[in-house]
Amino acid sequence: MVVEMNYSELAPNYIRAIAPYQPGKPISELERELGVTDIVKLASNENPLGASPKAIAAARDALSEISLYPDGNGFALKSVLVERYGVMIAQVFLGNGSNDLLELAARAFLTAGDKAVYSDHAFAVYPLATQGVGATGISVKAKNYGHDLDAMRKAAVEQGAKLIYIANPNNPTGTFLSGAALHAFMRALPANILVVLDEAYNEYLPKSCQYDSVSWLAEFRNLIISRTFSKAYGLASLRVGYALGDAEVMDMINRVRQPFNVNSMAQAAARAALDDVEFVRETFELNLRGMEQLTEGLRALGLDYIPSYGNFVSFKIGDAAKIYRRLLELGVIVRPIASYDMPDYLRVSIGLESQNQKFLSALKQVLT
Ligand SMILES: Cc1ncc(COP(=O)(O)O)c(C=O)c1O
Repeated sequence: MVVEMNYSELAPNYIRAIAPYQPGKPISELERELGVTDIVKLASNENPLGASPKAIAAARDALSEISLYPDGNGFALKSVLVERYGVMIAQVFLGNGSNDLLELAARAFLTAGDKAVYSDHAFAVYPLATQGVGATGISVKAKNYGHDLDAMRKAAVEQGAKLIYIANPNNPTGTFLSGAALHAFMRALPANILVVLDEAYNEYLPKSCQYDSVSWLAEFRNLIISRTFSKAYGLASLRVGYALGDAEVMDMINRVRQPFNVNSMAQAAARAALDDVEFVRETFELNLRGMEQLTEGLRALGLDYIPSYGNFVSFKIGDAAKIYRRLLELGVIVRPIASYDMPDYLRVSIGLESQNQKFLSALKQVLT
């Protein structure tokens, strides 16, 4: 006899209240569901060039040691980051994707009754990480779909928040905050409020927008910079990211991570990927061209979009759920973002020229 029992009631209320993260639909799932072939997936901000061949070779080499636990301290990878950024090894955190850092910052510093601040339309993991530890999230009204830094600081100070999440550029809106604005924000913020500055799309910023947040670490002990190998480095499946911050802050975060949170293939591939500057440059240039192609195409279709600094763009389409389904039938996967309180928008990732073209043709077909 199966016991009559509602197991979800064993979970705390704050866990039951979580709305699960909705990932982009995998190609294999669409094939299974609709029997469509020749699918283009532009739904998860992945790198259409794949990964650096050097990174792939390094991951393959690391397979020979698959029976051994990885280096739980990630010494070799951290050493490359130490050299690149001129920080101490104790200031570097390695994560199972940068997602790990976003969650563990909440785990280390928040508990029930604590508060974290983020922006409306900001990356979905911030509320998930906050709710997951029973803390309260304060979502601050956005300004033109971007972060309103003054309002965020005010909310954090007035409501006694311990942690602020900022995505720059933000996903899914693609909005960008200048280095000057961020630096001024940090200067005005009390030192007892931690800031996670999530720079997952940092490598896509054009020269004119680049800023040196790492140099600010000397000034602001409450700043944590989070980066990933999932996007421009093309290692999304391996799950590896890193964060830079104050040694004492990183020590707290390290205490709550899994001892072996980054596997050996990921560590080896990430090291090689950091070295392959040419691959990142090609990625940047392809993205720039693809962004032009897509935004030009959207304009030609008479559609509004939010100017984006990432490897994706969100555009306004009315009945987004319906258009999304029609695009699926035509073998194009994009991302509905109703869960970001943007029910009339879709987000499309920048792909190869031919993939962008397939998306634009399908969209045109759906609209006419
Ligand atoms: C703004 C932002 N931060 C962090 C991540 C997490 O990426 P990962 O865990 O693969 O490093 C993403 C992924 O979509 C993102 O868009």
